[in-house]
Amino acid sequence: MFAITGATGNTGGVVAEKLLAQGEKVRVIGRDTTRLAKFVQKGAEVFAGDITDAASLSRAFDGANAVYALAPPNIGSSDVRAYQERVSNALGSALANASVSYAVVLSSVGADKPDKTGPVVGLHNLEQTLNGVSGLNAVYLRAGYFMENLLPQTEVIQNFGIVGGPIRPDLRLPLIATRDIGAVAAGLLLKLDFTGKEARELLGQRDVSYQEIASVIGKAIGKPQLAYSQLPPQQLKPAFVQMGMSSNMADLLLEMSEALNSGYMTALETRSARNTTPTSLETFVAEEFVPRLQRKAASA
Ligand SMILES: NC(=O)c1ccc[n+]([C@@H]2O[C@H](COP(=O)([O-])OP(=O)(O)OC[C@H]3O[C@@H](n4cnc5c(N)ncnc54)[C@H](OP(=O)(O)O)[C@@H]3O)[C@@H](O)[C@H]2O)c1
Repeated sequence: MFAITGATGNTGGVVAEKLLAQGEKVRVIGRDTTRLAKFVQKGAEVFAGDITDAASLSRAFDGANAVYALAPPNIGSSDVRAYQERVSNALGSALANASVSYAVVLSSVGADKPDKTGPVVGLHNLEQTLNGVSGLNAVYLRAGYFMENLLPQTEVIQNFGIVGGPIRPDLRLPLIATRDIGAVAAGLLLKLDFTGKEARELLGQRDVSYQEIASVIGKAIGKPQLAYSQLPPQQLKPAFVQMGMSSNMADLLLEMSEALNSGYMTALETRSARNTTPTSLETFVAEEFVPRLQRKAASA
């Protein structure tokens, strides 16, 4: 049996769907049974509980041979790092208590670094915590920069006619669609051919700069002049807070951006068939970004 955390989210949803489509026994985990209900029709067992509650999570993992594990973002928390520690400790305890043999764990490029990478420090610590779970075979999928991070740009384009953010315009990032992460994780879970503890990067289809992102979006929406502006932290922080982030989360995001801009936080692996995934930025923009922008325009 497979237990899937974050099953209503970007990557966990894909993992659950793919395992269920193969006829596997799956337990989906989230906070709310109604949000998980769509998986019941497909044969999944549902477990509602909070991922910071080690006792509840131990029951959620009970009987599972393998787990898909992630640390859900909590962007409204006044102490994001403390929240991440609670999640890591609960995941570590529950994997040990339930004697789970295999885990595919969502991590991030930059999780090799112990500090100065904002929220990614929490994923570094998650890896360290799980390294301490004896008998567990684990792959830490160190994913690149999610294409889904671009979706709030629909609002920036609508309100200001630009793409904007803290990242250097020319910095080429390994941009990945979360559906590709889910597909790789499901493939690893179906095979279970890994042993020990291992980190693997996932770098998306290619490296793309924000300059190029603006150009790809511009072409897709009939505004070929659409440009990217790097904005200063003092302008971005209030915008992040307005979007629902705590002041602490906004600071961590800006710290991560600085780590990317300086080159401190960067992919370690050379691009290869194993760490490259299929979904291009053009596909993501056509299938997800443009429809989101159109829905926003229609409701404005
Ligand atoms: N953004 C990036 O560029 C990037 C890059 C690399 C790695 N990452 C990492 O990717 C992870 C996020 O993955 P994702 O996008 O697949 O997740 P996601 O879409 O944000 O989904 C997380 C799911 O976790 C569940 N959840 C939230 N709080 C919970 C709680 N307290 N207890 C139990 N379940 C809870 C939520 O489901 P319910 O609401 O139904 O409970 C939610 O659907 C984070 O660890 C992030 O650091 C992000």
